[in-house]
Amino acid sequence: MRQSWKVNSTESIIFGHGAIQELARVCGSLHAQNVLIITDRGIRDAGILDTVLKNIPDSFHIEVYDEAVPEPPVDSAVKCLEKAKERMSVVDVIIGMGGGSSIDLAKVAALLLEHGGEPHHYFGENKVPGPIAPLIAIPTTAGTGSEVTSVTVLTDEKNNIKTGISDNYLRPKVALLDPELTLKLPSYVTACSGIDALCHAVEAYTAKDAHYIDAEGDLLFQGGNPISEAHALQAIQYILKYLPHAVHQGTNRDARYYMLLGSLMAGQAFSNAGTAAAHALAYPIGGLVKSPHGELTGLLLPAVLKHNKAVIASKLAYVERIIEPLHAALAVDEAASCFIERIEKLLQDIFLPTRLSEIGIEEKDLKYIGREALKIERLIRNNPRVPTEKSFEELLKDIL
Ligand SMILES: NC(=O)c1ccc[n+]([C@@H]2O[C@H](COP(=O)([O-])OP(=O)(O)OC[C@H]3O[C@@H](n4cnc5c(N)ncnc54)[C@H](O)[C@@H]3O)[C@@H](O)[C@H]2O)c1
Ligand SMILES: [Fe+2]
Repeated sequence: MRQSWKVNSTESIIFGHGAIQELARVCGSLHAQNVLIITDRGIRDAGILDTVLKNIPDSFHIEVYDEAVPEPPVDSAVKCLEKAKERMSVVDVIIGMGGGSSIDLAKVAALLLEHGGEPHHYFGENKVPGPIAPLIAIPTTAGTGSEVTSVTVLTDEKNNIKTGISDNYLRPKVALLDPELTLKLPSYVTACSGIDALCHAVEAYTAKDAHYIDAEGDLLFQGGNPISEAHALQAIQYILKYLPHAVHQGTNRDARYYMLLGSLMAGQAFSNAGTAAAHALAYPIGGLVKSPHGELTGLLLPAVLKHNKAVIASKLAYVERIIEPLHAALAVDEAASCFIERIEKLLQDIFLPTRLSEIGIEEKDLKYIGREALKIERLIRNNPRVPTEKSFEELLKDIL
């Protein structure tokens, strides 16, 4: 039994409508003169880059790299830094602005800027030797929580798999969150990224308690603790309430505010507690089909909760009774089922797939998916019910 748990966090979080106006002050507080902004074309085309640039005075030397692509390939960080160095001899601070893809790329760039080498030197957990270059993260999607997490996800294009670097040194120095920047997020990206945030929150909330995690040493994903649980519980409530509004009424400022807050709190929660089986199963599926990450984790979540229900029914019932006070008198098992049905209905309401066959998975793939997922030890050990090849195959068959 593990004796203790710890909570890690981004040093500074600035949140609110119009928070982007704080950017110049933040750069000043980091003594930055030479600023590299890493983003993508979609952010430039949506006018968000211009909005952000307006908030940095001319006295700063700014360079923009706008070639980040979704699910960034491993070598794109090296390319990004090479291009930046052609234009500026010194980089004092990096700003990662965009969805998880741009922020993750910025994390790797800040790592390589400080410590040199190539991304693959740092793959895995706890391989970063010390603090990375100062990084300000400005999210424009409400989903990954990357602005506060210790994780960067990259695509290994040669082997067609997702890979990554996880280390507490990767947490940005400042997370600057302005919901106004998410108002133009297209509805499908809103749905996929928002459901991923829900999945982060639910998997962190239901993660095995940190004391019972069966692993030695300094873990990044440590299992649940009361602080991650509180963050996750609040995030679940915000996201369940506001995601349909954000998808169907993109310019609804309240919906965007609470979605960004929910994804932030989910990021705080899962970057300490960890995610579990839905994320583990999403990885091999992501290698077989080209769906966005959130579409996969969202599709898997109800089935994973059914798989785990025997161990987490009272937790699910607890959150269901908060969300729907009329369900206060329901038996635990029934209230837990209502919570799972609530997520199934949400997927339909925001037009996301609910069956694996809809995204191109066939029966012959199921054994492989289950077997590969079981190998992802850092996620599987957090799952509240110990999965097996058989239990995963049954889970996947149910949603084929
Ligand atoms: N680091 C982490 O902790 C973590 C956690 C979960 C997922 N991820 C990774 O994050 C990536 C997914 O990130 P994402 O879902 O945020 O999307 P994304 O960064 O891939 O962006 C998707 C698209 O949306 C566009 N876009 C983003 N914000 C916009 C806005 N406000 N207005 C208009 N268009 C906008 C982008 O230009 C892009 O074309 C994946 O690679 C995933 O594996 C990282
Ligand atoms: Fe995720």
